Amino acid sequence: MKGVLFDLDGVIADTSVYHFQAWRKLIKNHFNLELPDELEKQTKGVNRSDSLKAILNFLAISVSKEQFNEMTNEKNNIFRNLLANLTPANILPGINELISSFKKNNVRLCLASASLNGPFILEKLQLTDAFDAIADPSKVAAGKPAPDIFIAAAEAINLKPQDCVGIEDSIAGITAINKSGALSVGVGSKKDLKDAKVLFPKTAALNYKQIETAWKKFSLEK
Ligand code: BG6
Ligand code: MG
Repeated sequence: MKGVLFDLDGVIADTSVYHFQAWRKLIKNHFNLELPDELEKQTKGVNRSDSLKAILNFLAISVSKEQFNEMTNEKNNIFRNLLANLTPANILPGINELISSFKKNNVRLCLASASLNGPFILEKLQLTDAFDAIADPSKVAAGKPAPDIFIAAAEAINLKPQDCVGIEDSIAGITAINKSGALSVGVGSKKDLKDAKVLFPKTAALNYKQIETAWKKFSLEK
């Protein structure tokens, strides 16, 4: 296990909920409609424009290209306002300890988030220096569930995905890791993340030794 490819929202920080809150507010502002809870997991891990497409598709609403662009910008402004008070206290339980364990074992760290706000959020969390690289989601052809961002993340730390583990809380993200060839480590419920090769119910349960053991087994099976 030479590298770890980290998702951000919902794995490193508790920012995942803010994305859906922002979508809810946007749709309320524009159409005076409420989004159902189940749309949250369908948009988790999915990039901004693909998320809006999924939401509009669900609502059976079509908008012009201009309105679509305006809406993605407005969603981002709402999201950024929700991040105004973000501090290291928003780092999820167990994450600082897990990062330390990876570092102690010379495992390289790369961010593999779909979010264009990734560098900004890492700064706010004072975690920028902990990472060896940040994969740029604007430079990849397809967003999660496509594997591109995880392949780019492994490349950014000079590794093959097969030498890495990826950590994710979203259905789209686990699919993306599996397709990339890295070992998928899920954080969440068995019901949603059934394709994760290793699963932890919450970040506080993430454990370096268990991940390493699973990776050894995974690399022998290859
Ligand atoms: C992912 C979130 O991390 O980033 C998604 O899970 C979000 O909900 C995506 O749509 C893109 O984020 P941003 O900040 O570029 O709009
Ligand atoms: Mg996530």
